[in-house]
Amino acid sequence: MSVVSAVPPSSPATAATPGAAATSGGTLATRFCGLELASPIVLLSGCVGFGEEYTRVAGFSNRDVGAIVLKGTTGKPRLGNPPHRVAETYEGMLNAIGLQNPGVDVVVREILPTLDFSETRFFANACGSTIEEYVEVTRRFDDSPIDAIEINISCPNVKEGGVQFGNVPEMSARVVAACRAVTKKPLITKMSPNQTDIRENARRCIEAGTDAFAVINTVMGMAVDVRTRKAVLGNGQGGLSGPAIKPIALLKVREVREVAAPHNIPIIGQGGISNATDALEFLIAGASLVGVGTALFYEPLVCTDINRGITAYLAERGLANVQQLIGTLGS
Ligand SMILES: Cc1cc2nc3c(=O)[nH]c(=O)nc-3n(C[C@H](O)[C@H](O)[C@H](O)COP(=O)(O)O)c2cc1C
Repeated sequence: MSVVSAVPPSSPATAATPGAAATSGGTLATRFCGLELASPIVLLSGCVGFGEEYTRVAGFSNRDVGAIVLKGTTGKPRLGNPPHRVAETYEGMLNAIGLQNPGVDVVVREILPTLDFSETRFFANACGSTIEEYVEVTRRFDDSPIDAIEINISCPNVKEGGVQFGNVPEMSARVVAACRAVTKKPLITKMSPNQTDIRENARRCIEAGTDAFAVINTVMGMAVDVRTRKAVLGNGQGGLSGPAIKPIALLKVREVREVAAPHNIPIIGQGGISNATDALEFLIAGASLVGVGTALFYEPLVCTDINRGITAYLAERGLANVQQLIGTLGS
């Protein structure tokens, strides 16, 4: 199926696909939960502020990516955790930001109006310490121009909520069902790798009404300072991201895909993607979109290379579009 035939000629989204001008010949264009995206690349929550951060980098354009996920947003403003909040590791980084954000009211009233929705899609990242808070944040974003809402039930860096919901299928399903009830926008559930059976959790979230999954959030870890004999991070522990977690993320994408594919539920694969080959691995393993986060910290223009690499791979193999690659992992 070509992308061209997948989009009805009359679809307003065809002409208005954000970022389409920046991509090559439509081979990168794809669909996700009914949305037209110019590229399968998604910039990940917490790595690009509220969508404006990298636009200040020379040569970077929001048009190069299919969507941007905004920083995790709670009901009330949060100051986040005490320093240090990040620490470098082999092939990755630990972070314990603690969901610093100005609160959903400021994000919707003051930040969203400054974003250029003609450049790319913007997804919210909804967080909470209680189910009521997740609902409040989701409801507020539902009444906004945001294109989709990702519910972050997998943040390892807050004392209440986050991973406490994401690691228990019953709790995950309750959050998803409650958020589902207050929005018709595409609802993405962000999954924790720090749990025993991600398939069972995914199954429960599908029953509860999720439209998509983001797989994976960071892997819990810590760093020790031998001089002070204390934990490096002010929070004591944090979330590991970057290339170090890529093999874990690939397996989790494959596992969630087993459960999600029969329901046509797409996955945003993420965890250590830092070049086109990484992105292709996630697509082949079953991701429909590929997220880039930590790589931006050391290579802000990496998305241009990833778009180029995916386009070249498709051309070399005579594939018309990204969809023809998704979940094609052989046995
Ligand atoms: C500094 C930092 C802050 C993050 N903040 C959030 C957040 O607010 N909400 C969320 O769902 N994920 C957050 N994440 C997780 C990323 O969105 C992503 O899922 C994870 O880092 C794996 O991808 P990567 O290896 O490409 O960075 C954060 C990651 C980093 C490195």
